[in-house]
Amino acid sequence: MFTIRVNGDDIPVADWSPQSTLLEFLRARGLTGSKEGCAEGECGACAVAMVVRDGSRSAYRVVNSCLMLLPMAADREIYTVEGLSANGVLQDAQMAMAAAGGSQCGYCTPGFVVSLFAEQHRADRTGPCDTHALAGNLCRCTGYRPIRDAAASLGPAPAGPFRDRLTDPAAPLSSIACAGYSRPASVEAALDAFRSQPGSVVVAGATDMGVEWNLRRTRWPHLVDLDAVDELHDSEETAEAVRIGAAVPLAELAARWSSAPAVLAEWLTLFASPLIRNRATLGGNLGTASPIGDSAPLLLVLDASVELAGPRGRRVVPLNTFFVGYRKTMRQPDEIIVSVRIPRPYPERLGFYKIAKRRFDDISTVAAAMAIDVGADGRVSRARFAFGGVAATPLLATEASDAVVGRPWNPDAVERVQGILAPRLAPLSDHRGSQDYRRDVSCSLIEKFWWEQRA
Ligand code: FES
Ligand code: FES
Repeated sequence: MFTIRVNGDDIPVADWSPQSTLLEFLRARGLTGSKEGCAEGECGACAVAMVVRDGSRSAYRVVNSCLMLLPMAADREIYTVEGLSANGVLQDAQMAMAAAGGSQCGYCTPGFVVSLFAEQHRADRTGPCDTHALAGNLCRCTGYRPIRDAAASLGPAPAGPFRDRLTDPAAPLSSIACAGYSRPASVEAALDAFRSQPGSVVVAGATDMGVEWNLRRTRWPHLVDLDAVDELHDSEETAEAVRIGAAVPLAELAARWSSAPAVLAEWLTLFASPLIRNRATLGGNLGTASPIGDSAPLLLVLDASVELAGPRGRRVVPLNTFFVGYRKTMRQPDEIIVSVRIPRPYPERLGFYKIAKRRFDDISTVAAAMAIDVGADGRVSRARFAFGGVAATPLLATEASDAVVGRPWNPDAVERVQGILAPRLAPLSDHRGSQDYRRDVSCSLIEKFWWEQRA
C-alpha cells in the first residue's frame, strides 16, 4: 500500500487501517520505546523524529506519533529511540540523560531523548541546547533539573550518519488513495476526492483530529489529507500582503514570514508545544474554529482573510466574517482553506496575551490580541481588539475599536474600551476559569496593553 522508512529500513505497510496511529504501528512492530501517555499531544511520551525538508537540506522534527495517522507517515523517514543507538553505542542525548540522572521510571525518557537528539542536530543552533525544545515532554518523577543538565551538557551534533543525513533534502510526499484515506497532490485532486468520496473530511496536521480519534473514538468515512498539496505549503510576501499556505506547519511560520511583526515570536512560543507546532497548521487552527484557538485573535487584529477553494471556484473571506457559530465557519464541507492573507503595513503597536494555567503548552483560558496605530496628531488612526475564550466564536470587538479611533490613546480611552467590552463578552464558566474571571481578565488586558504600549 505504501512505505515508511523507520530507523533506516523501508517498511511496506499493508493490512493496517489507514485511521490507526503511527504510534500503534510502531509499538506493534516491537518499537515500544515510544509510549502512550496522554494520547492527546500533551506529554511527549510518544515522540519520534521525522526527517523534513529544510530548504535544500533536511531537519529532524519531533512529532507526537499518537496524533499522526499511519498513512500520514507514508514516504516519511521516522526515527524512534531504538534507532538512535547502533551496536550498543548510545547517542549523545542518551548518554547525557544517563550521566545526569535524567531518568527514573523511564516512561518519559525515550521522548525526551528524541527531543534532545533533534535539538542537538538543529542547524541554526549556535549556543547550548534550548530547553524550550523539551517543552512538549513531561516527566512525572525525575524532576526537570537533571534533564535540563543533560540538555546543557550536549555539544555540537557529532559527525556521523545522523548529521550526514541532513545534507540531503527529504523525499517529496507522493499522492495516496486508499479506502478511508487519500493524500492528493493538488488542490484540484483534493476537490475531486471530496466529489468521489461523499462524507469526506479534510485533515492537515491532525493535532486536533488525532485527539478526537484517540479520546472520543471519532471515526470518519474518508479523510482527505492536504499535506502533499504543494500550493498549501507555499508562502509569498509582497509590499502589500503576506500569503501563507494553509498547510505550512507553525514551526516554519517564522522562517516563511520574514516581515512578521515582533509579536509573532512570542505568540509562537505560547502556541502549544514544539511537537504540536511541528505538525499544526494555520489553516487547521482556523478551520476547527475553536473559540480558544490561539491564531484567530492575532489574525483578526492583523485584518487577515482566508482563501477558500471549492467546486464553485475560489473565494476570499475576511476572517472577521469567517466564524459563524460555535466551531462553525463559512467554509463549506467540500471546500478547503488554501491560504491565509495578511495585508501590510502591519499595525505599529501590537500585543498578544495568553491567560492559561501554565505558561507553556496549555490551552487558553483567554487569549487576546490588540493593535493600535497612533498618528502624528496623537490620535488613534487604527485600533483592533480581538479575543478568544470569551464567546462561542473568536471575537473582534469592532465597537470598541470605533470608540477610540480619532481620539487620544490614553487612560480614558482604555476605560471606554473596557466599558464597551464588559457587557459584550459572554464567556462560559468551566474548569479553566469562571465567566466573571474571563470577563475581568479580558478587560484588564486592555489596561496592560496600554501600559506596555504607551508612548
Ligand atoms: Fe502523550 Fe502522545 S501520548 S503526547
Ligand atoms: Fe518517570 Fe519521567 S522518569 S516520568
